[in-house]
Amino acid sequence: MAAAISKVPLLLQPKTRTFFALWSIVSLFLFLYHGVPALRHHLFQSSSTARPQYDFTEGLFDNTFQTIGTGTTSTNNDAAAAVTVTSSRESRIADALHDSNVTVHLVLATRAQDDVSWATDPGRLRIPGVANLRVVRYLSDAADAPYRPPVLHKGREALMYLTYLHDFYDALPDVAILVHAEDYAWHAEPTMGTSMSTMLSRFDLREVLEDDAENEVQKKTTKSRRTRPSNRSPLDHAPEQISERDSGLEKRKDSGRRGYANLRTGWLHACPDWINTTKTPAESVKQEEPFMREAFLANFGPGVSENGVFSQQQQPEVPEILAGPCCSQFAVSRAAVRSRPRAQYKRSMDFLATTPWSDYIAGRTWEHLWPFLFRGAARDCPVEWKALCRMYGVCFATAEAQTRWAERWRERESLREPLEFWQELGHPRVAARARGRMRELGEWLRKELAVAVRRGEDVEGVGWEGVGDVYEF
Ligand SMILES: *[C@@H]1O[C@H](CO)[C@@H](O)[C@H](O)[C@H]1NC(C)=O
Ligand SMILES: *[C@@H]1O[C@H](CO)[C@@H](O)[C@H](O)[C@H]1NC(C)=O
Repeated sequence: MAAAISKVPLLLQPKTRTFFALWSIVSLFLFLYHGVPALRHHLFQSSSTARPQYDFTEGLFDNTFQTIGTGTTSTNNDAAAAVTVTSSRESRIADALHDSNVTVHLVLATRAQDDVSWATDPGRLRIPGVANLRVVRYLSDAADAPYRPPVLHKGREALMYLTYLHDFYDALPDVAILVHAEDYAWHAEPTMGTSMSTMLSRFDLREVLEDDAENEVQKKTTKSRRTRPSNRSPLDHAPEQISERDSGLEKRKDSGRRGYANLRTGWLHACPDWINTTKTPAESVKQEEPFMREAFLANFGPGVSENGVFSQQQQPEVPEILAGPCCSQFAVSRAAVRSRPRAQYKRSMDFLATTPWSDYIAGRTWEHLWPFLFRGAARDCPVEWKALCRMYGVCFATAEAQTRWAERWRERESLREPLEFWQELGHPRVAARARGRMRELGEWLRKELAVAVRRGEDVEGVGWEGVGDVYEF
């Protein structure tokens, strides 16, 4: 039977044979024209799970740390001194931090399946000036994990972060850095290849590091700031309001240390006025927005806790606008965490553990509450190009230059769609054009970025010291 079928074409009429020949040619053409490019680009290109494809930052931020001097001086205290850096910016940071011997926890909100090797590999992550980094990994889905939220599978990263802040309240490091499990994420900084390990390896801890004693002064003299939240942006301080402020706040402003900093600096879908707490579900297109007022009151409004800490509190005014760079990943000083009583963290944990809202909504409401928790500010929108320069030494010459860079990066991101397999199969020429444009943009982005990184390295006075108040345009 099979043999009979295979002979069929030979027995066909000449007309049918012509048809088969044409059909084969057309198929071959279609295969070469549509199939080959799609297959070539998608089958034979490394589909690395971690590093994003088409990353243009490769090699630009290679870790420049070297460890020398081990063996010559042998006490643990010299560990920090033994870390030297080839980058002038990083050595400046390390010098500045040397005497304060800073302690840092990197707190990871993870699930058991996550690969967090990036966080413990000193070849990938080394925070400038930090000799001993302690990684504290929380697991939301493992009942036997040493660090886990009180309720599993609930509250997303927010419940894990709050659990850490509560449980470590009396044993906090100088700075705690709280991040998601992934190294690469869309909400990490594009200028650093959307890599958290690259960001942290450039992070200037002085952005948040505060002196506890200094903060005590501030707390005593600015009680009203905590109990009367306002929706005023830090940008809006009129001169007379600044002069009214107490010496503690002045000091904080002068030192430029923010206590809390979102690790992302981008304003897209975030600043300066993303969440409006007065909006009803009908008025809002952002799912969590209509829940924000209730979430705010549930966490910061009047209420009675076990030890009565909240019963004294007056009804706070719910800020109309809540805004800050997207997504929960931030660095916070011990002083900023302790500007709230420990019971605040317990209360917020309970809110997340018991709320009837979906996990999606409840988790997202907290993305907008961190600035208020740590800074008493409903809106936390540092000027993007300044924050990039101060925090990461990526120093574009002007705000416009940074905006242009970000726009072109987004254009490049938008070209990924025509490069998807089925798109490329259907429209190989569109894909080829997109690939060409992507290459062109990538070269431009890389070139401009290299200049910005060099500016952050070389120019004395640019960077943390030179950019000035990060909230002022
Ligand atoms: C620095 O930290 C180490 C380890 O925590 C500690 O043993 C040492 O005393 C500290 N040094 C200073 C100068 O504070
Ligand atoms: C917040 O939303 C309300 C209702 O839509 C609107 O009237 C108000 O102007 C908004 N506030 C700001 C600051 O945009």
